[in-house]
Amino acid sequence: MSGIATKVPFLTLNDGNRMPIIGLGTYEAPPGVVENVVRVAIDAGYRHFDCADFYENEHEVGQAIRDAIRDGKVKRDELFITTKVWPNWHGKGRPTLSAKRSLKNLGLPYVDLLLIHWPTPLKQVDDNFYPTDATGQALFDNTIELIDVWKEFEQIKKDGLTRSIGVSNFNSQQIEDLIKNSSTVPVVNQVECHPYLSQEKLLNWCESRGIKLTAYSPLARSGTVEEKNTTSPLDIPVIKQLASKYGVSAAAICIKWQTQRGVSVIPKSATKERIIANIDLFNFNLTDSEVKAINDLNRDWRNNTWTQFGINKHRNWPFAIPF
Ligand SMILES: NC(=O)c1ccc[n+]([C@@H]2O[C@H](COP(=O)([O-])OP(=O)(O)OC[C@H]3O[C@@H](n4cnc5c(N)ncnc54)[C@H](OP(=O)(O)O)[C@@H]3O)[C@@H](O)[C@H]2O)c1
Repeated sequence: MSGIATKVPFLTLNDGNRMPIIGLGTYEAPPGVVENVVRVAIDAGYRHFDCADFYENEHEVGQAIRDAIRDGKVKRDELFITTKVWPNWHGKGRPTLSAKRSLKNLGLPYVDLLLIHWPTPLKQVDDNFYPTDATGQALFDNTIELIDVWKEFEQIKKDGLTRSIGVSNFNSQQIEDLIKNSSTVPVVNQVECHPYLSQEKLLNWCESRGIKLTAYSPLARSGTVEEKNTTSPLDIPVIKQLASKYGVSAAAICIKWQTQRGVSVIPKSATKERIIANIDLFNFNLTDSEVKAINDLNRDWRNNTWTQFGINKHRNWPFAIPF
């Protein structure tokens, strides 16, 4: 195993499985690029990869992973692979088909974690990820209950297609409903989380239920923030000062802050130097007051509001309550 891989701590999930606290995000890592990105990441010490059918690049991610296993760089049981079921695959039997589709694309017999990608069932129209009506509004499927999707997830786990099951973009009430009406507590809730959206209330609530938070868009997707006239977290003076103090990048400070709060984190980069630097951060620790100073940057500012195509009108839109 490479030096960094041995330094990355694990989080123990409520079903006993273990997840490396840092993983590589693969959204918008385009086909033609992502295969090499994953190779670089494995060499850099990443063992946790965050994938999704929706990202339309799982065949390439899987190719790089299988090559690394074949070449003896890594063993399958050292890897933690996540994939997700998109909301147009929520109807009866469809989550299983979606999981099998991802496994076929990845070329793997099982994943480590399967997530419900969003709590907002959409109509199935030709497997279109964004089924819309003539006016461009998303078509909801209000006949589907999340608990039925979750019970199918329990079966998918029993069938051995995934080792663990969890959710993404769920609020606390939606998770509570799953817990009350099934025998499985989700292991993870994967949500947007960065210095502008510290998610402290949701984090504390999840901890009280034995659920780990995973932070997506941990760099607030860098450029997008600037487009919305907000300073990128990488340019916030407090973060830049800490980067300078520890001799690391501003991104490393944002990622390290998450790990020190017990939050797993999945930064995406397609740039070799950044891929390496984003995981090489176990030679320093932020002090408690530095962690607090970053917590204090919170403004409950959300990049991924999920208002596209009117999805904020869905009865399950997760951001209608504080957390
Ligand atoms: N569950 C969900 O609904 C959901 C939603 C969104 C994302 N995700 C997952 O979370 C992952 C990460 O989120 P994200 O892709 O939205 O955004 P992110 O990780 O916050 O930001 C990615 C951006 O930051 C840049 N970057 C990476 N490292 C950097 C560094 N050291 N210095 C400066 N810039 C750096 C990347 O550029 P380069 O690539 O050019 O280096 C890319 O433009 C995704 O890939 C996906 O796996 C999940």
